[in-house]
Amino acid sequence: MKFQAPKGVSEYLPGRSVGFDHVRNTLTAAALSAGYQLAELPVFEDTELFARGVGETTDVVTKEMYTFEDRGGRSITLRPEGTAGVMRAVIEHGLDRGQLPVKLWYTGAFFRAERPQAGRYRQFYQLGVEAIGLNDPEIDAEVIAVADRGLKTLGLKDYRLEITSLGDAPSRLAHRVDLDVFISKMDLDDATRAKAAVNPLRLFDDKREVVKSQMSQAPLLIDYLSEESQLHFSRVTSLLDSYGIEYVRNTSLVRGLDYYTGTTFEFVHEKLGAQSAIGGGGRYDGLMRQLGGADLSGIGFGMGLDRILLACEAEGLELLDPDGLDLFVIALGSEAKFVAAGLVNSLRNDGFNVDMSYGDRALKGAMKAADKSGARFSLVVGEDEVTSGQISIKEMETGESHAMTISTIADFLDSF
Ligand code: HAM
Repeated sequence: MKFQAPKGVSEYLPGRSVGFDHVRNTLTAAALSAGYQLAELPVFEDTELFARGVGETTDVVTKEMYTFEDRGGRSITLRPEGTAGVMRAVIEHGLDRGQLPVKLWYTGAFFRAERPQAGRYRQFYQLGVEAIGLNDPEIDAEVIAVADRGLKTLGLKDYRLEITSLGDAPSRLAHRVDLDVFISKMDLDDATRAKAAVNPLRLFDDKREVVKSQMSQAPLLIDYLSEESQLHFSRVTSLLDSYGIEYVRNTSLVRGLDYYTGTTFEFVHEKLGAQSAIGGGGRYDGLMRQLGGADLSGIGFGMGLDRILLACEAEGLELLDPDGLDLFVIALGSEAKFVAAGLVNSLRNDGFNVDMSYGDRALKGAMKAADKSGARFSLVVGEDEVTSGQISIKEMETGESHAMTISTIADFLDSF
């Protein structure tokens, strides 16, 4: 029997895994640049956490969760997103009883039983941050700037930031009254009507032409913002202006999760086709209380690492490996191999990344291995080198050679 990976999962092997790691590390560095601290959380949680947190009407909860009963008869779900789990941990461990905001970052695998296609997987990777406890426009701008800094550091250019405000509770209530009246006059099937009764905003995200054309006339939340929401949002956009971060307002932006309020945003890449959202997030006023915690607001984002890697590839960015090999050692003959293995081991102890040719390869095959390894330098050790202690290190990119004794190799590598 030949095994295959389950349908629709993303996996990264040599060739692309370096790029994936680079994307993840770059976004991590952006989170660290703003003082976010790591939260390493379980990949499965109580099913109810997501049903309550993410929203009963969302596709994520109704169609896409990997839910199963564990051996103790509990209903467990593989996390489809990160925010609900972070909130659960913050509440459970009372992190919100200390200094606010609580600033956390996380990364790892997430699971949604979607129909697989390019850029849409059933297991995918996110890096996210959450800043919990204060409703401060400066924090909104910080969260957005962290994501943007990560994307810019990678060198990405062909993306845009879409932003809107979904308002506070009074704004949403005022909008809801008019929207409900509008929807009651629409021509809809029963299932859609039932969905709209729970969360009418979902209809803005409906892909069916009959619904889309009717919804184009619907009242927009942005026109119902309370004065407080307007002030908050205009301060966020002014801050982004002052940071030099470009954005477009998208008043019909609807996110796939129900908890959003206030500032809401998405990063969209122009070269990715249908699955163009490379990340998104926003504020969530009621989530923590909804999950049994204090009535505190929060804001965060989830960046899709798989799609960001695809975006880097689409833009032809070179994703360098800062942790690649410094040196590849080619040994010819049994005695030289013994000496080379000792040299390699000691250079590794000194903190260099070094590999060598194994087996009994001829020089040509070993040179190929050196080329493939991506090492910055290579050197050949044969009988003569062992006897004389003199070697020549080759710089792989330029072909330039540097002569030295074996004992000075570490100093030489250090000087680069
Ligand atoms: P989300 O928009 O559902 O938000 O997911 C964030 C990002 O994850 C998406 O923009 C996309 O890049 C990536 N993503 C989602 N589903 C898939 C998939 N099936 N395959 C590949 N990539 C995917 C959240 O998850 C929120 N928790 C973000 C957040 C944090 N909001 C506030 N705090």
